[in-house]
Amino acid sequence: VSKTFLMVKPDGVQRQIIGDIISRFERKGLQLVGAKLMRVTTELAEEHYKEHKGKPFYENLIQFITSGPVFAMVWQGENVVDITRKLIGKTNPKDAEPGTIRGDYCLYVSKNIIHGSDSEESAVREISLFFNEDEILEYNKDIDVWIYKS
Ligand code: GTP
Ligand code: MG
Repeated sequence: VSKTFLMVKPDGVQRQIIGDIISRFERKGLQLVGAKLMRVTTELAEEHYKEHKGKPFYENLIQFITSGPVFAMVWQGENVVDITRKLIGKTNPKDAEPGTIRGDYCLYVSKNIIHGSDSEESAVREISLFFNEDEILEYNKDIDVWIYKS
């Protein structure tokens, strides 16, 4: 069981679909272990997106992610990184399948609703950027006996 970092971007918060997004991951059987509504500072945005520095869309991306509140989350579960990337859909909404978050809710790569870590290493890095240790909770869900194999 591992963790991942997911973030509803400013467009998703403004579109009022935080609840739907949380529901999708809950219904899949994943566990929410940390969450907060927050503003991303330019400094945090640059650290988070440093792999994209120098790309043509970089300045726009930093501007966008700092333009309004985001909803930052940590989710836990079996294969959580791969599963959440699948539920989110392809980076460009025009290629994202219906039934995925990006496939259902948006039109442009520059306003694609949600971020999800792309590997376990990225997840560890991004969780520590956005969350203090005491903001991540460990707790049992009794229903997991009906979700996890024995
Ligand atoms: P994240 O979960 O947000 O990291 O998306 P991703 O992993 O599917 O894509 P990637 O890390 O390659 O790009 C990060 C973000 O930069 C994307 O989600 C987009 O918001 C933005 N982005 C990526 N490619 C483009 C592009 O070609 N044009 C524009 N305008 N934005 C882009
Ligand atoms: Mg990415």
